[in-house]
Amino acid sequence: MPLNVDVMVFDSGVGGLSVLEAIRSRLPDLSYCFVGDNAGLPYGDKSESWLVQRVPQVIDCALAEVQCKILVVACNTASTIVLPPLRAKFTFPVIGVVPAIKPAAQLSQKKIIGLLATPATVKRDYTDALIAEFAADCQVIKLGSSRLVTIAEEKMRGIPPDREELKLILAPFAAALPDVVVLGCTHFPLLRQEISEILTDTVWIDSGAAIAQRVAHFAIHPSDLSKSGDGAAFFTASDISLESLKPFGLTNLSFLKI
Ligand code: DGL
Repeated sequence: MPLNVDVMVFDSGVGGLSVLEAIRSRLPDLSYCFVGDNAGLPYGDKSESWLVQRVPQVIDCALAEVQCKILVVACNTASTIVLPPLRAKFTFPVIGVVPAIKPAAQLSQKKIIGLLATPATVKRDYTDALIAEFAADCQVIKLGSSRLVTIAEEKMRGIPPDREELKLILAPFAAALPDVVVLGCTHFPLLRQEISEILTDTVWIDSGAAIAQRVAHFAIHPSDLSKSGDGAAFFTASDISLESLKPFGLTNLSFLKI
């Protein structure tokens, strides 16, 4: 018998934990499970056709173990591509995440904003459309990095980020000095402390609170939702420890055979 949880949060790796944290702090009474496709990481270097095939496959595999009432695709790189097929496939709500371009443009005084995301996200037509719609009055500095994804993954494994390497990666922002930078990859809030020490006058915006708000919109009848199965994590590769997941309220770790 599969477990039942209220919310399943999915990402390529540990990045989605930043989203899980935001949702849980807003809705602490719901039950959660986390699914990470770390065998497929990084998604930011993968083709669209690969993602369209892979993501539903991993989610199907997870749903054989645990059923959910709401699915959150806590990955910008996948969301812009796989939300339509997932929404067509499942009857429960599927919530995605897109870079927070609109609030960043509204907040920017200088009208120079940064987008820090994966190489795939910065190239997507979807991202260009968001910029055209919500940030037409801003200069947008786009910076795509898969290495930052790896650095966030390493941090979760106890390897501290190298400040000099972070400085090099962020150099385009140090030159253009955007006053607001969008963290357009869910891995990057996990590095917020380190990157804020490098660019001290920058406001970093992520989508965690907006997603939590969206989940709250669907989870309007908490009495219908059960807490059984709270805290289960499923990953596709074994290079992750339960210890690193415990601070995110995950107390069970299993591996999906895919
Ligand atoms: N965390 C994911 C995102 O928000 C992608 C990281 C990756 O696998 O490249 O885009």
